[in-house]
Amino acid sequence: MRKPVIAGNWKMYKLLGEAIDTVMELKPLIINSTHCEVVVAPVFTALKSVCSRLEGSNIKIAAQNCATEQKQGAHTCEVSAEMIKDTGASHVIIGHSERRQFFSETDETVNLKTKACLESGLTAIVCVGEMLDQRESGKAETVVATQLAGALDSLTVSDMKRIIIAYEPVWAIGTGKTATPEQAQEMHAFIRRILSEKQESEVAGTVRILYGGSVKPENIKDLMTQMDIDGALVGGASLEAKSFAEIVNYK
Ligand code: PGA
Repeated sequence: MRKPVIAGNWKMYKLLGEAIDTVMELKPLIINSTHCEVVVAPVFTALKSVCSRLEGSNIKIAAQNCATEQKQGAHTCEVSAEMIKDTGASHVIIGHSERRQFFSETDETVNLKTKACLESGLTAIVCVGEMLDQRESGKAETVVATQLAGALDSLTVSDMKRIIIAYEPVWAIGTGKTATPEQAQEMHAFIRRILSEKQESEVAGTVRILYGGSVKPENIKDLMTQMDIDGALVGGASLEAKSFAEIVNYK
């Protein structure tokens, strides 16, 4: 049984006070939600304070990126996985399409960052997904397979047990245009097939694969009925505690 994960990616939203207010409002709304793991990803500057407010709660905290470098050094403006761990966070979102499109993230840096997270004892939420023109020209599976091969290069079976994959078709992010549950299921099944070719099928069966792209309270239920969809990575609808809690409590 794969325990679902509902993760909220706050992107570059919320000042410190707003981030704290949101989690304090969220906490009681999901206090009994034991059917899934709940993760929220604030900006770096809010990590530590949000983590302290959530100690002992059932909400886990993610960073939205980390450095490829693991050792401390002269890397101005970078934040290492170890430093993220030091704030109390437990997860890191890696390779989000906005990082790939606008901040020069490559499959190679995604791989290095994933390894850095695992070495620091953090869970990596590794994002993959095709652009609209790639889907329209029939290349979606090839693109996702290439991203996965790069991201997961040389990861061991025990590494694989500590990662989460998020399939986020770029054309569905922030557009209001969700992939249909069937489209998402098809890609999730494809991803699981690739994992089983790369690793033992035991691992492929246990890795959680989240769907992301315009997930809302209205569509989460249908997405979650699909066999290979193990949760969601939510952007816009995670910014309000109430709508995020509705997504968490989809059951
Ligand atoms: P969205 O974003 O839910 O606003 O489409 C998803 C994401 O970027 O992770």
